[in-house]
Parts: sequence; C-alpha cells; structure tokens
Amino acid sequence: MKKTVLAILAGLMIPLFAAMGAATADDVKSLRGGKAIPDAESPPTVAKLILDQESFDRNFKSQPPLIPHKVEKYKVNLKANRCLKCHDKSNYKEEEAPMTGKSHYIGADGKEMDKISMKRYFCNQCHVPQADAKPLVKNTFKSAK
Ligand code: HEC
Ligand code: HEC
Repeated sequence: MKKTVLAILAGLMIPLFAAMGAATADDVKSLRGGKAIPDAESPPTVAKLILDQESFDRNFKSQPPLIPHKVEKYKVNLKANRCLKCHDKSNYKEEEAPMTGKSHYIGADGKEMDKISMKRYFCNQCHVPQADAKPLVKNTFKSAK
C-alpha cells in the first residue's frame, strides 16, 4: 500500500521537476542582479524619507494616508501603542495631530466605541512613511482621479 502511494508521488514529481528545469537561469532575473549566490552583494543605500510636507496626496479613494514623519522610534506592541499617544481621539487635540480615522473606532457590531478597534491596532500594517526611492521594478501605475 505505502509503496504504491510513493510510486504515484514520484510519478507526479518527475514532470514537476522537468517543468522547473525548463526555465534557464538566463530567463529569470532576480532583483539581486546577476551575482552568484556565494558572492556578497553590497547593501543598497537607505532611501531618505520625505519629511518636508504635512501630508501626501492620496492615490485612490480609501487609501490609508501615508505618514509624513519618522516612525522608527514609535513602538506598537501588546503593551503600548505610541501612535495612539498622539493620534487617539482622546488626545489628538492636545498633541495637535490629525485624529485617527473615525472608521478605526467602529466595532464588529457597527457601533462607535471609545477605544480603537483591535482591527486597527497595528497602525503600520496600513500606514507607512514614504521615501523618494526608484521603483524596484518598472510599472505603469497611475493615480485615480
Ligand atoms: C509625537 C506625536 C506623533 C506620534 C507619536 C505619531 N504621529 Fe503621526 N502625525 C503627527 C502629526 C503632528 C501629524 C501631522 C503632520 C505633521 O505635522 O507631521 C501626523 C501625521 C500622520 C499621518 C498623516 C495623516 C493624513 O491625513 O495625511 C499618519 C497616517 C500618521 N501620522 C500615522 C502615524 C502612525 C502610524 C504612528 C505610529 C507609528 C504615528 N503617526 C505616530 C504626530 C504623531
Ligand atoms: C487596516 C488598515 C488600517 C489600520 C490598521 C490603521 N489604519 Fe488609519 N486609516 C486607514 C484608512 C483606509 C484610512 C482612510 C479612510 C478612513 O479614514 O478610514 C485611514 C485614516 C487614518 C488617518 C487620517 C484620518 C483622516 O481623517 O484623514 C489617521 C491619522 C490614521 N488613519 C491613523 C492610524 C493610526 C494611528 C492607526 C493605529 C492605531 C491606524 N491608523 C491603523 C487604514 C488603517
């Protein structure tokens, strides 16, 4: 019984490996370039963040706004959320920061809550700063009007 299963599996693997072999190294270009695997690539330069404006234009409706300030020192974990210290609806006015989107306080029952919805707790999942970097791959993206 076991042997037949193995034989069938082996039968399935052979055409799979054959298909993988069909693409030669010349067809596939990795973002790393043509370097051999043991060669070390020099690290890319760290792109500078764009920090000279109050906000970024949104590229499509319902895009999470991009962050116009540094974020690396603002921790978000189970114990603390530094972003909320400035952006929560309870304190954004004193901090002179824009309030976290109203949608962030809507609970599973569709009602507004005092505390941030856990679905929106990990801010950096959706909000990121912007760097003036060259795109890694060419693309034809155009903003929505
Ligand atoms: C010390 C206060 C402070 C902290 C901490 C902070 N922010 Fe901000 N944030 C601001 C202020 C003030 C602005 C308004 C633009 C400016 O002055 O830089 C802003 C702007 C933004 C915007 C742009 C809003 C828009 O409508 O364009 C986003 C998004 C944002 N912050 C997200 C975050 C996230 C995510 C974190 C945590 C990683 C965070 N902020 C931490 C103060 C803060
Ligand atoms: C699941 C994705 C997601 C997460 C997580 C999230 N946001 Fe947002 N955020 C959005 C989207 C989408 C918008 C724009 C539409 C809206 O207001 O809902 C937005 C809007 C905002 C705005 C601008 C509000 C305005 O009226 O212009 C701020 C500030 C903000 N978020 C901060 C935060 C902070 C701080 C956190 C973490 C506590 C967070 N967000 C977590 C998706 C997210």
